[in-house]
Amino acid sequence: MNIPFTLSSAVEPLPQAHAIPLDQLDVSDPRLLEQNIWPDYFKRLRDEAPIHYLPASPFGAFWSITRFDDIKFVDSNWKLFSSEPVIVIGDRTEDMELDMFIAMDPPKHDQQRKAVQGVVAPANLTQMEGLIRQRVGSILDNLPIGESFNWVEHVSVELTSQMLATLFGFPFEDRHKLIYWSDMATAVPEMTGAICDPEERMSAMGECAKTFSGLWHQRAAEQAAGQPPGFDLIQLLQNNEDTKDLIERPKEFLGNLILLIVGGNDTTRNSISGGVHALNQFPAEFDKLRADPGLIPNMVSEIIRWQTPLAHMRRIATEDVQMHGQTIRKGDKVVMWYLSGNRDERVIDQADHFMIDRHNARQHLSFGFGIHRCMGNRLAEMQLRVLWEEILQRFHWIEVVGEPEYVRSNFVKGFKSLPVKIHPK
Ligand code: HEM
Repeated sequence: MNIPFTLSSAVEPLPQAHAIPLDQLDVSDPRLLEQNIWPDYFKRLRDEAPIHYLPASPFGAFWSITRFDDIKFVDSNWKLFSSEPVIVIGDRTEDMELDMFIAMDPPKHDQQRKAVQGVVAPANLTQMEGLIRQRVGSILDNLPIGESFNWVEHVSVELTSQMLATLFGFPFEDRHKLIYWSDMATAVPEMTGAICDPEERMSAMGECAKTFSGLWHQRAAEQAAGQPPGFDLIQLLQNNEDTKDLIERPKEFLGNLILLIVGGNDTTRNSISGGVHALNQFPAEFDKLRADPGLIPNMVSEIIRWQTPLAHMRRIATEDVQMHGQTIRKGDKVVMWYLSGNRDERVIDQADHFMIDRHNARQHLSFGFGIHRCMGNRLAEMQLRVLWEEILQRFHWIEVVGEPEYVRSNFVKGFKSLPVKIHPK
């Protein structure tokens, strides 16, 4: 496969969307997100070719689905659109043959999801909330005041790593390893156009597998010695009939762990950064927030819509399907561009405006639809709500003081850096 973006750090400005013939418009180019010029490309597809076929791209031929209702249709029909074998636009590489339930169809998907979803059950979330609030508070209390710093590194990554360590019962002092492994797992140039050295990735995945199997055996020994079972993810897996021997299926074992690490990492991290950025683009919204902190839950949904931390999910058509007069053939790749559906003016009022008091703010595509709808959505919302409640207790304003840098990927829509200065109350 020809991958023109791999490992190159040069940033050449891409042409404007209207300068490219429609049949050659390639929205899989990971530089679209890096250069933050994606909105016009997707608006053009929504308006002129809502079901768009690109016969050749570095990721192969694919259909783009860009309108809200069409995405919902595809996502809700797993029988017509399969999630196997992978859910990103590029094809799976030999060294990444991990089995994850996000990339499985029923019945296997349903069994595996059922086995782990207890970790995000309401009772567990309520238990976790106090700890998360405490950790958020201590991160915010230690931020430098009156000087510029990188919000991504000091808050978004830090908070996410602490949350992940809590979820996995992972040694707190080693929590940054979780972030590193997740970054390595998603930086798959052949699949998403992200930048990464393949050897480094392989070695990181090996270390991740080794560490987690160590943790698995340690937990099993503790339980065998009579310690009461805890409620972290490893123990949930060990105490479930379908997954108690997961360790004997290494690809599935690592796959599911990586899925949960990745699921809770980039997404939450970039929503934390995205909220600060959005409020700086629309500062009147921060005034509304100060005047009415009760808007926080609604704002959290609006942040998740606005940021759309995962730009797409892909499917494979299982039979010929007609959409908007086009025939998607059995076996074709179909890419649902959530970031586009979330800006679809046909369904979302003033979609290019960030409005914290938006009516129906939860009606967005960022968590997907149907059987694969994000398992961690309530956890993510809870973390963001707690974060903003604690921010409002302490700060008058978080000012973005420089240009953000964006991640190069067509999958993870996120920030590499976001320079800010804090103005206390
Ligand atoms: C699935 C987004 C947070 C775990 C998904 C999907 C999306 C998504 C788009 C696929 C939906 C589909 O195919 O229809 C997000 C966003 C988040 C977030 C935007 C934060 C703002 C989390 C967290 C966790 C998590 C914190 C950790 C527990 C998962 C899992 C799946 C998933 C396990 C696979 C579900 C399945 O295949 O049945 N997420 N996610 N996510 N997410 Fe999240």
